[in-house]
Amino acid sequence: MKRIAILASGSGTNAQRLMEHFAGNSIAKVVLIGSDQPTAGVLQRAWDMGVPSYLFNGPQLKDGTLLRELQQQRIDLVVLAGFMRLIPAGMVQAFPQRIVNIHPALLPKYGGKGMYGEHVHRAVIAAGEQESGITIHRVNERYDEGEHLFQTTCPVLPEDTAETLAQRIHALEHAHYPRIVEALMKAL
Ligand code: GAR
Repeated sequence: MKRIAILASGSGTNAQRLMEHFAGNSIAKVVLIGSDQPTAGVLQRAWDMGVPSYLFNGPQLKDGTLLRELQQQRIDLVVLAGFMRLIPAGMVQAFPQRIVNIHPALLPKYGGKGMYGEHVHRAVIAAGEQESGITIHRVNERYDEGEHLFQTTCPVLPEDTAETLAQRIHALEHAHYPRIVEALMKAL
């Protein structure tokens, strides 16, 4: 049985879908939810699902404390689901090809530092895009630049706000992230 850790900073709806998908799955299970935000909704979701959580701060991300925890827990794949910090080079090297992220836009557009959550949707609408979507990609030392694994699109409607576009994007994320992660786990 392969072991998944999810890192999340926010509400955690993607983390929830992943936990649900892999509960009772024969290939992999979510064994840890890591968060850098003590008030993140994802921690309550982990509690409700009976998945252990691990809280860490910025220095502990950089100094290898989180990495040691992931290694002790024999994690096979690290899944970022609304995680807002840069993954340090040491962790990327310790998990080669084994960290993935989901981004709420069609990379390489609307990526990079500061481009997360509603900031992304605001920028997409402000640019007058008629289409947005999601990108699932491997994680390297730079924000949103790793190899793309999957993209799919949705329309941006004239009346969209960041909130309504976020809802459409979330629906895409929830539909696709679990199955893409499962395919990765099968290939490990
Ligand atoms: C998701 O839309 C995810 O794509 C985005 O944060 C949201 C988290 O939602 N991630 C980024 O913007 C990363 N740059 P959730 O907490 O409900 O899963």
